[in-house]
Amino acid sequence: MKLNDFYCEQWMTAYEKEAVYNMTDTSFSALSFHDLFDSKSLEEFDPLLDYGEITGDRGLKKEIERLYTTNDRALTFCHGALEGNEHVMSTLLEPGDHVIAFRPGYQQFYEYPRSLGCTVDVLDYEEENGWKLPFDAIENTICEKTKMIVLASPANPTGTTLTLKEWERLIELCKSHSI
Ligand SMILES: Cc1ncc(COP(=O)(O)O)c(C=O)c1O
Repeated sequence: MKLNDFYCEQWMTAYEKEAVYNMTDTSFSALSFHDLFDSKSLEEFDPLLDYGEITGDRGLKKEIERLYTTNDRALTFCHGALEGNEHVMSTLLEPGDHVIAFRPGYQQFYEYPRSLGCTVDVLDYEEENGWKLPFDAIENTICEKTKMIVLASPANPTGTTLTLKEWERLIELCKSHSI
């Protein structure tokens, strides 16, 4: 999906927390908790009831960056995995793309790509084989338009967890088809 730049929010992301005089705000000054409730019993607790940082709290970002080694410091926070899944799919998929997902599985993985205009094949986990990922079926289903294979590990509700070897096999398969 191609989204046009959202200039107002991009400008505010870059400058609004740094500016000495912010002439661009879209709302009046925020009240604090005490302004609103005049609550003496919670003297220590007086947060400003305002928007936070648009791409996430800086302190939290710093803490997360300490946990991961990555060259890409662009972090975006999501309200749960569901929203992260949606961001990835909205960003990478276009109408007409082909997607592979698995059953039984999390409905978002096949319904959301469908709602974006993608064709989705939902393959069965191998129940007789301890709910293994169906590699043969994946290989037989991949086509020129396949853009994404969506899975969770551990999977919900089968609990299927990929071994390192299986991840490597899947990654190789994806790389060789530019998925
Ligand atoms: C595979 C999978 N992805 C995402 C979610 C949603 O996660 P969240 O509640 O963090 O948005 C679930 C919830 O059950 C899930 O099973």
